[in-house]
Amino acid sequence: MPAPAFHYDAELRRYQPWLREAIAVGPDDTVLDIGCGVGTTTCEAARLAIRGSALGIDVSAARLEAARRLAADVANVRFEQADAQVHDFPPAEFTLAFSRFGTMFFADPVAAFTHLGRALRPGARLVQLVWQSGNQQEWLSEISRAVGNPAVPDDSPFSLGEPAVVSEVLATAGFTDLRFTDVAEPLWYGPDAGTAVDAVRPLRLVSDALAQLGDVETERALDRLREVMATHQSADGVWLGSRAWLVTACRGAG
Ligand SMILES: C[S@@+](CC[C@H](N)C(=O)[O-])C[C@H]1O[C@@H](n2cnc3c(N)ncnc32)[C@H](O)[C@@H]1O
Repeated sequence: MPAPAFHYDAELRRYQPWLREAIAVGPDDTVLDIGCGVGTTTCEAARLAIRGSALGIDVSAARLEAARRLAADVANVRFEQADAQVHDFPPAEFTLAFSRFGTMFFADPVAAFTHLGRALRPGARLVQLVWQSGNQQEWLSEISRAVGNPAVPDDSPFSLGEPAVVSEVLATAGFTDLRFTDVAEPLWYGPDAGTAVDAVRPLRLVSDALAQLGDVETERALDRLREVMATHQSADGVWLGSRAWLVTACRGAG
């Protein structure tokens, strides 16, 4: 059997049980998946909401195309290409909203979560996985070190990394009962070091660094990256540490 290739669901597979348990989709839930990507989590929610439904929204047309293919045999799921910050949701539609690493990119988080809150019924739950700060991410420091790029070119993935900031954002947006669970799980980059290097090459962290190098230096940087990935190789593939917050909240009554 060929070795499994790298893909995002596989990368995050240690996180999925945490999210699944926290969202605890019920049979009657009307679910919103914010920044749903290729729709794996949306389809999983829809299958559990047997008398309800699930809507996945994302700004990426390409990801939604993949999501619709994945959902071909799921009757109660649909997808919309939309910006979650401003999309015209029906008011008080959803009993549950969740996101797996899709809510950290909002330009104005208070406005965005206030807007999303209006789409939730009073008492509805909001569950999010968000990355902790960049200095908590082994994958980031190891890859940066290998390619010689100490600066994070885009820090938006870590914008919800501080619980104090997130608490203020969500409370101002009308959410209550905030809870933060510290989840430290490794990310999977593929079955071997070569696949792991290919998996991280599209990251801006890597591509920006390599773009500044000549051919010889690029080969050296890739060799270093391969060595780093080999260092983290175990029997079931290449794993690098990461850390996230599982944030749960309730839409307030107001
Ligand atoms: C890191 S990916 C996670 C995808 C998916 N939740 C998953 O776990 O497979 C982040 C996703 O959020 C989407 N996204 C970012 N900002 C968004 C916004 N304002 N509205 C809707 N989707 C957004 C991106 O297009 C991307 O698909």
